[in-house]
Amino acid sequence: MVYPPTLSTHPNASVTTRIAVLASGAGTNAEALLGAASRGELGDAEVVVLASDRDGCGALAAARRAGIEALFLDPAGPGAGGDRDAYGRVLVAALRERQVDLVCLAGFMRILSAGFIAAYEARVLNIHPALLPAFPGAHAVADALAWGVKVTGTTVHFADEAVDHGPIVAQACVPVLEGDDEASLHERIKAVEHRLYPEAIRLVVEGRTATAGRRVLITAAPVARR
Ligand code: GRF
Repeated sequence: MVYPPTLSTHPNASVTTRIAVLASGAGTNAEALLGAASRGELGDAEVVVLASDRDGCGALAAARRAGIEALFLDPAGPGAGGDRDAYGRVLVAALRERQVDLVCLAGFMRILSAGFIAAYEARVLNIHPALLPAFPGAHAVADALAWGVKVTGTTVHFADEAVDHGPIVAQACVPVLEGDDEASLHERIKAVEHRLYPEAIRLVVEGRTATAGRRVLITAAPVARR
């Protein structure tokens, strides 16, 4: 199976892949993606919106600085009502309105509804600050330190209904140093993420990913879409 099956979800599809970045926090990954997009490093793609569930977060500021639409979607706002499924519908509506083809989660601290995942099936990427399947969840860096691992890292994967679970596109290692605390280790992981995530997105944009079971195969040339 080609993963994603097709990147064009809208009528009159342009060739360019329209990307939405979803983020909640400092936004260093979002900023790296916006920079990579502006330099053409994501392939034939453009980031058309950065959406966030946290008003005033660094990621929204990074989008404004880059001249990209910065969209705060209030999880407790009209139509969302504090309910995960309802918020998922609000997100899907906003992304469809902008003809988004590919969703890149970059520190989006909210579990996506099953409806959202179905609407963007095989078109949602996530980055996680550990070598999955080790240390899933919101405290991956602290958990890795507490376990005493000597090497951790970062994972880019397709998102599915389970948290930090879908097929892995790319991983990179980061050594744990003797004096590390959560902040210092996370900072070095993020430095690696800022390089790895654009590379992984480019593979997807160029149609060079296909899945065999849980394995994502990376091809030299684009794979024919089904
Ligand atoms: C990153 O470490 C990412 O792996 C995780 O959340 C963090 C976001 O950091 N999902 P930032 O907001 O991009 O700086």
